[in-house]
Parts: sequence; C-alpha cells; structure tokens
Amino acid sequence: MVNVMSASQIRIVDITKEDKYEKYLHRCLAGPPSKRYKKRIKYLEKAIPKGFHKKLLITNEKIVGTIEYAPSEASYYPIIGDNVTVMNCIWVLRKAKGHDFGRLLVRDMINSEKDSSGFATIALENHWSPWFKKWQMETLGFKPLESIKVMHKIKYKGQTFSIYLMWMPNISKSKPPTWNIHELLEGITCCIVHPLYHPQTFEPKQILEKHEN
Ligand SMILES: CC(C)(COP(=O)(O)OP(=O)(O)OC[C@H]1O[C@@H](n2cnc3c(N)ncnc32)[C@H](O)[C@@H]1OP(=O)(O)O)[C@@H](O)C(=O)NCCC(=O)NCCS
Repeated sequence: MVNVMSASQIRIVDITKEDKYEKYLHRCLAGPPSKRYKKRIKYLEKAIPKGFHKKLLITNEKIVGTIEYAPSEASYYPIIGDNVTVMNCIWVLRKAKGHDFGRLLVRDMINSEKDSSGFATIALENHWSPWFKKWQMETLGFKPLESIKVMHKIKYKGQTFSIYLMWMPNISKSKPPTWNIHELLEGITCCIVHPLYHPQTFEPKQILEKHEN
C-alpha cells in the first residue's frame, strides 16, 4: 500500500516559541522522559536568547522528527565560524522514513537562517552507536571538511572512531568553519543520549582521547 501524505498533514513547529511542546526542549523524541537535567536547562537558558531553535516535525498529530540548531557561539559543539549556524542534532523516526523528512527539516533550517554563511555539524565513522553516521549527514547535504581519530576513555576501550567536521555553505565564497579539538575531546554534557556524552560521574575533563595517525 502506498502511503501518501499531503503537505497539509505535515507541520514543523518551533518549540522554543510554543509552550505546548516544552518538554521536548529537554528530552529526545523517544527514550527516557525528561528528568529536568540541570546541564541541559543551563545550556538552554544561555542558548535560546542567542538564537537556538529546536523544531518538531508533526504528521497527522504525531511527532516524528526533530532538528536543533544555533549560531556557532550557542551550539554545544566547539565549532568556530563567522556567521555559521550549527546543527546540533537531527532525527527522523524510522517509522516515518521514506518521505525525505530529514531534508525537509534541513531545508526549513536553511530557510529560517537565510543570512547564515553556512551550516555545520559533526558526523561519526566507526562509532558503535547508530547515530550521526557520516553517510547520513552527506545525504542531508553536508560535506566533510576535516576529521580526527579518537578513542573513548570508558566505552569500547581500544576501538577508534572518527569525528568529522561537516559543512554546507549557504553563500558562495563563505569561509568554512574550524573547530577546537581540545574542547571537542571533552565531549557533550547537555544531552544525555548523545554518542559523545560526557557523564557527570566521569571526572577527567576529556572523555575522548586523540588517536595518532
Ligand atoms: C538522516 C535522517 C534524518 C534521514 O531521514 P529521512 O529523511 O526520513 O530519510 P529517508 O528514508 O526519507 O531517506 C532520505 C534519503 O536517504 C536515503 N537512504 C535512506 N536510508 C538509506 C540507507 N540505509 N542506505 C542508503 N541510503 C539511504 C534514501 O534513499 C533517500 O535518498 P534519495 O531521495 O536519494 O532516495 C534519518 O535517517 C535519521 O534520523 N538518522 C539518525 C540521525 C542521527 O544520528 N541523529 C542523532 C540522534 S542522537
């Protein structure tokens, strides 16, 4: 059976502006409910006034996708750029795949941030989680600029994986972003399901270590 969905059944809601979906500012589409994680709350308090947005894609009143982005100064990745928007996260539930919702969300971000010089994010290769796969970020329109090979200090010790800085310029001749490797190795503290999550219980500053070669 062909699943046809009309455009009128699909909407993208900016939940930094609509209270109804406030809990999704703190949690993911699926997984554990929000525990009002303090580091996330602190992050949002700083990031929202600086231009952070989180959006939900809703079809037939079901939430099936999300995108989260901010100017590079307010992103949780240490990506540095001039007027660069950083996509913190994107996710379309597998049950809604096949409708190109990922690219729809990316297009919505591009249309909302027309003055940005471009869009950056990260991607992973050889990581054990199913998240941020490089080929998926490429499908969405991002291209790799550079990469670093790392190991996790607690999980899958000895297994190396690569983190890529991904880029999609918005205007020709825009200056590509760079990143702060030192901060990147600290991991992510304000999203507990992120594959680069740095748990509060792990005291050393860096959760990742650079792997030479
Ligand atoms: C990337 C993502 C947003 C794309 O979702 P989507 O738009 O529903 O994807 P679709 O199923 O509509 O496919 C979009 C394109 O990818 C291609 N694609 C999808 N699955 C594929 C696969 N397994 N292999 C190759 N190509 C694939 C489709 O063919 C399509 O390309 P086409 O239009 O040229 O045919 C989605 O897969 C996702 O959320 N992945 C996880 C992202 C992530 O890691 N988030 C972090 C959470 S912590």
